[in-house]
Amino acid sequence: MKRTLLKALVFVTICAAPALANEPLPAVPPIPANNSMSSQKVELGKMLFFDPRLSSSGVVSCATCHNPSFAFTDRVPRALGHKHQVGPRNTPTVLNAAFLSSQFWDGRAATLEEQALGPIQATVEMNESLENVVGRLKEIPEYKKMFIEVFGGKEAVSSGNIAKAIAAFERTLVTPNSPFDRYLMGDTEAISTDARKGWELFQKKGCNACHSGANFTNGEFYRIIVPGSTDLGRFEVTKKEEDKYKFRVQTLRNVALTYPYFNNGSVVRLPDAVKVMSKEMLGSESGDEEAALIVEFLKSLTGTMPRVDYPVLP
Ligand code: HEC
Ligand code: HEC
Repeated sequence: MKRTLLKALVFVTICAAPALANEPLPAVPPIPANNSMSSQKVELGKMLFFDPRLSSSGVVSCATCHNPSFAFTDRVPRALGHKHQVGPRNTPTVLNAAFLSSQFWDGRAATLEEQALGPIQATVEMNESLENVVGRLKEIPEYKKMFIEVFGGKEAVSSGNIAKAIAAFERTLVTPNSPFDRYLMGDTEAISTDARKGWELFQKKGCNACHSGANFTNGEFYRIIVPGSTDLGRFEVTKKEEDKYKFRVQTLRNVALTYPYFNNGSVVRLPDAVKVMSKEMLGSESGDEEAALIVEFLKSLTGTMPRVDYPVLP
């Protein structure tokens, strides 16, 4: 009874706000005024992203969990971090995170800059203090020189600048030009007939009420208890009763590559994830055939991967 009421409420909320159209992904994401891009800053951010010396063990880097070969995820249900501890949540992709209006499944960081310092300090991730990281990087002359060149000033090596450099690198991790983007731009042959049927279903069923805009997320939080989850989601951040079990709408770009799915990684196959969504979010179950067509459409959201050459670290 309570659930039905909640679902009805969700539905009303969705319908109240007009959904943004699903548009082609821009090649460049929004760049904040206080962190302009430069090729040297991006290079420094890339080095830091791949550098396990940002962790206390010296073996965990951002790329350990956000592995470029796995579309910047780790392909395990829940992240494995410091001393092989299993964290509470699934690793989302960093691809196109630059387009998100908030970071993390519960949206607890507003920007990529704010997000970047979280995993370094999280005990189940990299388990290191910012003070130690800054101290360590200062002792590496090549890093010190780069920080000074990019940021200037006496305190160039700082946690704030580490975050800025990593965020600048992440803003290059975007995947425009997917077959679906080309379809939207007028190339009717860019996706298969089944994918086109799937796109029709995606709209007809109302998936695009939440998975809207260029990045296929409206950035809002909705109540969902995915299989096997006890996670309170957004409630952990706001402590508001109405935010219990709410999670941010996930991007669907490159979703064919970012399995396993959901905040706890409990669903491995994409058709099964589609079925969960149909039932839980829309109250209209998808059979095998319908799920397969929607999956064909979702596969067309795999874009051109950014070219990332492994940095040689000092
Ligand atoms: C031990 C694995 C692990 C490491 C190491 C790690 N992450 Fe993550 N990352 C995660 C998990 C798990 C989440 C989701 C956590 C949550 O929502 O509570 C996440 C979330 C994110 C997000 C938010 C994406 C979104 O869709 O909301 C970004 C961006 C990100 N990480 C970047 C980084 C950066 C930069 C580093 C290195 C400084 C890093 N991560 C290190 C596992 C990891
Ligand atoms: C009411 C809003 C809403 C609607 C409608 C909705 N979704 Fe979702 N979707 C979400 C949220 C929220 C999540 C994140 C769930 C979580 O925390 O694991 C999500 C996650 C997903 C995921 C998993 C992504 C990942 O990387 O883990 C897929 C796939 C997905 N949705 C597809 C669909 C499809 C297909 C439809 C239509 C049948 C649909 N969604 C309808 C809100 C919605």
